[in-house]
Amino acid sequence: MRIALIQNHPLFGEVENNINRLLTLIESVDADLYILPELCFTGYQFVSREEVARLAVPPDGAVIGWFRQIAKERNVSIAFGYPELSPEGSYNAAMVVTPDGRDLRYRKTHLFYREKEFFLPGDSGFGVIEWNGLRIGLAVCFDWYFPESFRTLALKGADIIAHCSNLVMPYCQQADLTRALENRVYIATANRVGTEDRGGEALTFTGGSVLVSPRGEYLLTLPKEEEVVMVAEIDIALAREKKINRYNDIIADRRPEFYNG
Ligand code: ACM
Repeated sequence: MRIALIQNHPLFGEVENNINRLLTLIESVDADLYILPELCFTGYQFVSREEVARLAVPPDGAVIGWFRQIAKERNVSIAFGYPELSPEGSYNAAMVVTPDGRDLRYRKTHLFYREKEFFLPGDSGFGVIEWNGLRIGLAVCFDWYFPESFRTLALKGADIIAHCSNLVMPYCQQADLTRALENRVYIATANRVGTEDRGGEALTFTGGSVLVSPRGEYLLTLPKEEEVVMVAEIDIALAREKKINRYNDIIADRRPEFYNG
């Protein structure tokens, strides 16, 4: 199973150009599952709820249809972050589309910084979709800061966590080593690059996307500033083996009766 991490540099608000660029990046390599950043075709730094609503798209609309179409044509799955338009407001969302026409939808649980002004808090909970024998879980950026996010996905059976990100702090790529090890799952953090300077504040995104194995090793580390795609092979069986020796199984050995804070 080949995993492609896509690290892009969207230009704020240029949806069609950004999507065309993403499709070109997808077509530039052969893989089975492509993982793209958070808000991958709009840019990140919104300045009002109205602006989000103008650029947000419905999950069953034409824009998401482009991703569904390329998944079908290439017989691949694609995970990506986007602003989801809904009747009650906009969500910072992510989706996995599979070539057989199914999808997994997720609304970001832990909103970061000014996202709290512009997006509704996600209400979907964490989910997993199985495709080609691979169980894919979804998370978005700041979710990583809360260990319960990736733990919940591991308990729900995820082999790989597609972690669509727009990181501005430098910690996640290192923290992923621990998160992968403690859950014995693959973690794919697809981050963006570039700087956005809107609403009187400049944010620089940290790039350096990583794919980490259940043994806590980097399989891919992307550069910090370039738009780039990289591919690595994963072994699903490694994520299913939760035993670390004859005595210890890191899921079965949990003692949840002692974990209530
Ligand atoms: C983030 O959640 N985009 C940092």
